[in-house]
Amino acid sequence: MNLSTNYLGLELANPIVPSASPMTRSVESMLHLEAAGAAAVVMPSLFEEQIEHEAMAVHAALNFGAEISPESTLGYFPEMDDYNTGAADYLDRLRAAKAALSIPVIASLNGTSPGGWTLYARIIEEAGADALELNIYLIAADLERNSLQVEDDYLQLVEAVRNSVSIPLSVKVGPFFSSTANMARRLVSAGADGLVLFNRFYQPDIDLDTLSVVPNLVLSSSDEMRLVLRWMALLRGRVDTSLAATTGVHTADDVLKLVLAGADVTMMASALIKHGPDLVTTTLAEVSAWLEARDYESLDQARGSLSHESSPDPSAFERANYMHALVEYASES
Ligand SMILES: Cc1cc2nc3c(=O)[nH]c(=O)nc-3n(C[C@H](O)[C@H](O)[C@H](O)COP(=O)(O)O)c2cc1C
Repeated sequence: MNLSTNYLGLELANPIVPSASPMTRSVESMLHLEAAGAAAVVMPSLFEEQIEHEAMAVHAALNFGAEISPESTLGYFPEMDDYNTGAADYLDRLRAAKAALSIPVIASLNGTSPGGWTLYARIIEEAGADALELNIYLIAADLERNSLQVEDDYLQLVEAVRNSVSIPLSVKVGPFFSSTANMARRLVSAGADGLVLFNRFYQPDIDLDTLSVVPNLVLSSSDEMRLVLRWMALLRGRVDTSLAATTGVHTADDVLKLVLAGADVTMMASALIKHGPDLVTTTLAEVSAWLEARDYESLDQARGSLSHESSPDPSAFERANYMHALVEYASES
């Protein structure tokens, strides 16, 4: 079965791409994923905070003692190795991954505001990344900023990164916009070659013993894929961009449903953490078997056939389905 797909202009052998997670942290782990059949990998993110923290540490170190030592007006120049473990280590791993893997390696930057840290986009390009995923993980909690201002923040950030690189750029966002479809189009106009739908926000929890707020990372389940499924179907064919699905992709059924809705690639993190790299092999075999059993010649042939645009029942993705679902549930119970 021909499972090949095009994502961000990259020709991929199939639609399964491990997304940013500990599974793509080491070169060894990425090699396992490649051997299992992964079509590309997205490395974990280099974070705005990480870059800025390092920049501050270097600045402080360079200036330390400058004013107390008469012979040192420009500051001391300590070994850079002492400071740049985060970003330098990231770039080393990226270079090593590029040298070791045959599949495309997508790097990831994660932040919320335009600033000097976005220069790392170019450094990442120079280190050899095949594409860059920009994760805008923004919780709009500022009471003074309205939705248009928040959206402009997104667009400025995309433009800043777009202007820094010529490799393909995908943008990973959450679903919480007043007008998700319009925002998708504006992100593409700002320079995104692809959209990664959707960020999965980790909700904090309260520890009743320590009375403190604690991070609580729970892995996803297939059910969470449905929000992505709806928006994949609503955007396919209506926004001129590559589309990747992330959140809740655990099984071959999840992959097939998302491709039928319009996904170019489907990304996995939680499922790989739970089951290991070999899940890619079994999932690909099951996807092929399903397509063969229904006489499809390729994955491309199936892609988008149940999107909003192509679906015989487009209302199924909109409000009408809501009423229908409630009425059906009531009549069954
Ligand atoms: C432990 C862990 C670490 C992650 N690290 C990153 C990261 O560095 N950058 C990023 O964009 N997404 C990161 N993610 C999010 C995943 O790439 C993915 O989008 C999300 O988990 C939803 O997909 P899933 O349902 O397959 O887990 C991480 C997820 C997990 C579980």
